Amino acid sequence: MIIDVHTHHVPKGWPDLGWPGAPRLRVDSEREAVILLGDREFRRIADDCWNPSVRLERMDADGVDVQVVSPTPVFFCYERPAAEAVRVAKIFNDLALEICASERLVPFCQVPLQDPDLACAELDRCMAAGHAGVEIGNHVGDRDLDDEGVVQFLQHCAAVGAPVFVHPWDMAGGPRLERWMAQWLVGMPAETHLSVLALILGGVLDRVPDTLRLCFAHGGGSFAFWLGRFENAWHRRGDLVGVSEFPPSHYLDRFSVDSVVFDERALRLLVDTMGEDRVMLGSDFPYPLGESPVGSLIRGAGFLSEDARVKLLGGNATRFLGR
Ligand code: CO
Repeated sequence: MIIDVHTHHVPKGWPDLGWPGAPRLRVDSEREAVILLGDREFRRIADDCWNPSVRLERMDADGVDVQVVSPTPVFFCYERPAAEAVRVAKIFNDLALEICASERLVPFCQVPLQDPDLACAELDRCMAAGHAGVEIGNHVGDRDLDDEGVVQFLQHCAAVGAPVFVHPWDMAGGPRLERWMAQWLVGMPAETHLSVLALILGGVLDRVPDTLRLCFAHGGGSFAFWLGRFENAWHRRGDLVGVSEFPPSHYLDRFSVDSVVFDERALRLLVDTMGEDRVMLGSDFPYPLGESPVGSLIRGAGFLSEDARVKLLGGNATRFLGR
């Protein structure tokens, strides 16, 4: 069973969300559309975002059995009033169920994470309706994953058995980061790295049950490469850093990362650091910074034993999804 845990959807034909600058879709043809933020072109997309038969064809071509289908983070709306974010979440979560009618497409919902009570309620509604887990953004404005509200939500996810996929979004801007796709190439890995730090140093993993299933996108960003620096700082500058009960490396069996790192040396570092039970196939399908063909890095990685390859391609994801 080959399971891709990191893919996105955009539903076609969602209604006008009703505020200036709201994300909207300009449909150019049966097969092409553009996501607009206000009047600004955010991303050109194609029917593989919304058309399940196109997705299934692409999956067949790449030898993928199952996709976890998550929202596209630009629609999280964490910066909007919570009631508005709930309304948007409901629209997109319900449309996701239509896209994911095939059992090979496994929907993850989005929630209004700025309001933990509403976020828990929307998660419950979605899990009852057929979603299999939740994708969250890695921060809510200036609040990171150690925010009390986010921790409450994560505890709820553990209680109801919902796996959580953490995706970077809302990267810092400014002239130095708004060229060369630097927000995606530098900002996203740093965002994810910061989230892992917040989860560990904020003592979150000391507080949430170890039954919580967590996965970070993009190989956990720059986290694995800099674990040694992190560990050293925890030991040497505990006056500034040591909030967690144990050093960072103690917590590596508490979360997973996906494999969309494009380079065998990076994948090897991830498997060496996280262990072969903690890395899962992810692709970022159908976006241009995703892996294509899906799974090619894991399939071609000479250092993996056949047993480990099977785990990375689907065995670990089966456990993550609670199947
Ligand atoms: Co993604």
